[in-house]
Amino acid sequence: MSSVDSPRESWATRLGFIFAAVGSAVGLGNVWRFPFQVGQEGGGAFLLIYLLFIVLVGFPAMLVEFVAGRYTERNPVGALKQLGTGLWEYVGWIFVVTGFVILSYYSVVAGWTIRYAVLGLQDGYLADVEAAEAQFVSLAVGLEAILLHALFMAVVVTVVAFGVERGIELAVKVLVPAIIVIAVGMAIYAFTLEGAGEAYTYYLAPDLEVLADDWRSIVPAAAGQAFFTLSLGMGVMLTYASYLQEDRNLATDSAIIIGFDTAIAFIVGLIVFPVLFTAGVDPAAPGPGAIFVSLAAAFGDLTLGWLVGAVFFATVAVAALSSAISLLEVLVSYLIDERGIGRVPATVALGGGLFVLGIPSALDLVLLDLFDGFADQILLVLGGLLLSVLVGWRRSDLAITELELGIGDLGPYGDAWIWAVRIPVIAALLVALTLGILGYIEFLQDDFWPWVQEL
Ligand code: TRP
Repeated sequence: MSSVDSPRESWATRLGFIFAAVGSAVGLGNVWRFPFQVGQEGGGAFLLIYLLFIVLVGFPAMLVEFVAGRYTERNPVGALKQLGTGLWEYVGWIFVVTGFVILSYYSVVAGWTIRYAVLGLQDGYLADVEAAEAQFVSLAVGLEAILLHALFMAVVVTVVAFGVERGIELAVKVLVPAIIVIAVGMAIYAFTLEGAGEAYTYYLAPDLEVLADDWRSIVPAAAGQAFFTLSLGMGVMLTYASYLQEDRNLATDSAIIIGFDTAIAFIVGLIVFPVLFTAGVDPAAPGPGAIFVSLAAAFGDLTLGWLVGAVFFATVAVAALSSAISLLEVLVSYLIDERGIGRVPATVALGGGLFVLGIPSALDLVLLDLFDGFADQILLVLGGLLLSVLVGWRRSDLAITELELGIGDLGPYGDAWIWAVRIPVIAALLVALTLGILGYIEFLQDDFWPWVQEL
């Protein structure tokens, strides 16, 4: 199906691909980012729009990346060069830049999860939410945060430099089930809390007034979160599919990956909001600290909470690891394939650059927002949009043929998919991108600029 000039690696086992893709998708996006986005964007109204984006945009967009990757058997830059001509050849670059920005602050947040695992084992967690918040603010930024960011980056670099498949495939097979078991257990605990009823209403019953008032910020936030959590918009899924054989049913695989990812995020919400409401914390308030404040405080309250908490945060750190590996792998595959740099020097150089770029995020939470908002609400959506235009409008014949491999004749479903990409997906992403840019400008004016002036 493609022109290969060097033999290409492929997944060791049939399930390896699914596990690696789930490992990439399930990460800080589900456990850290999702609950604070829901909190900031008004609860159930956000959840509703988010789920719509997952199903109506995320699913077709994941198929686009899968098809583009399996067809070209290339890294994102190489794939775009093969699929498009002229300016399209540069779109792969957006993917590389996006991955670089995301991984820089992702590693800082992963450092916090390591710190919180250790915190449980050393001192236990503070049961008082205000004290827990003060503790988070002191742990999240500063020298220690920078060192843990360096440590996490070093682990990611080591794994990627030595090659991935065995270690990651195995780790993820144990850890994904472990995350589910721990999360379900904690959701049951959260159900017994006094604030659970109020929290479920907030989280599960969309307030249409909130939607009517705030859709301008909810839509880009939901689109960005859908892309972030599914690892879409920067070529991770494209790259992973480039190692695939042609006998896989990509539609079923996407559905499984999306199902796992969505279930985990959803369950995390069932934990975080009852805890916040019971403690009397405004769910919009904690921002990026939400799980480190509210969940940590809940652990502080539980018998043996220090142990459950340490296991929980350690699990999250490992989930973050498999996601971070997927991000770095894309950047490395680009340097190897397109620039002829060796795997080890490529990995080490990128790791050094990522460490430096991450330092600001470990110094102030406003700077973390600066990177996160730009990558998530602008770059990821832009990447997804451009790839959808290219595949949906210019290369749709090969896209359908490629998707049919491993499935069989799609009949009308193939056209339905292409038309979903051509109109609703592209329109939704255009709207989300426009609103995302406007929202980001507002963030720069309202939060970032005053912060600069205070320096
Ligand atoms: N999806 C991962 C998470 O939820 C993060 C991630 C990995 C990602 N690879 C990505 C986000 C590519 C955007 C693009 O934690």
